[in-house]
Amino acid sequence: MTTRRDFIAGGVAGVALASSSASSVLAAPKPKAAAAPAPIKPGEHKLVELPFKPEALKGLSAAMLTSHHANNYTGAVKNLNKVELELAKIDKDTPGFQVAALRERELTFTNSKILHECYFGNLGGDGKLTGAIDKRLATQFGSTARWEELFRATAMSLGGGSGWVILDANYATGDLRIYGSGGHSQALAFGQPLLVLDMYEHAYAIDYGAGHAKYIDAFFQNVRWSEVERRLARSDKAQQALRG
Ligand SMILES: [Fe+2]
Repeated sequence: MTTRRDFIAGGVAGVALASSSASSVLAAPKPKAAAAPAPIKPGEHKLVELPFKPEALKGLSAAMLTSHHANNYTGAVKNLNKVELELAKIDKDTPGFQVAALRERELTFTNSKILHECYFGNLGGDGKLTGAIDKRLATQFGSTARWEELFRATAMSLGGGSGWVILDANYATGDLRIYGSGGHSQALAFGQPLLVLDMYEHAYAIDYGAGHAKYIDAFFQNVRWSEVERRLARSDKAQQALRG
């Protein structure tokens, strides 16, 4: 089982670029980070624990959070492992439709794993937006209030359906953007999730039924902005390296 610290470190790398190596880049940086991480063998992705005490969050019940983690997130990781084991059996005689289906599922479960780890990793805070991320959002969007208006509107647009709202560092442009998607496999190809909101109904229906607006309010009350800021700092370093 991965540690709490590893979990909080989530959200490093272009989500749609995810491969079997994606899990490894979610791990906390080691002092000697220059060495490439050891490859993860097919079917050996590990679950990451909730990085907070679920009963401590405001407006999000422990029952819902633990169900979300134990069923939806855990299911994605287990299915990713199963898909990878099937992919390992592919040879030149495997029908193309089977390969395509497995690759689609691989991407879906890989992104689900990454995004859920980012989502849980940016919860458990007091919701108070401060520090460098505060200034960056104001610079990018005109004001933090305008950023929040856009982020909330994107979340509301997904209510009753499914999807993700992601504040991303776009590595192609070097700026911060909000992306909304209807599924796990629709994600920015080259960037780092900074703040992730799960808008699948399983994330709120136990507590709020179809009342997704109240869930969005509760989400903002529990954002761990210190983690978002930590991801931003790592993103800035990564982009400097990429431009070098
Ligand atoms: Fe979810």
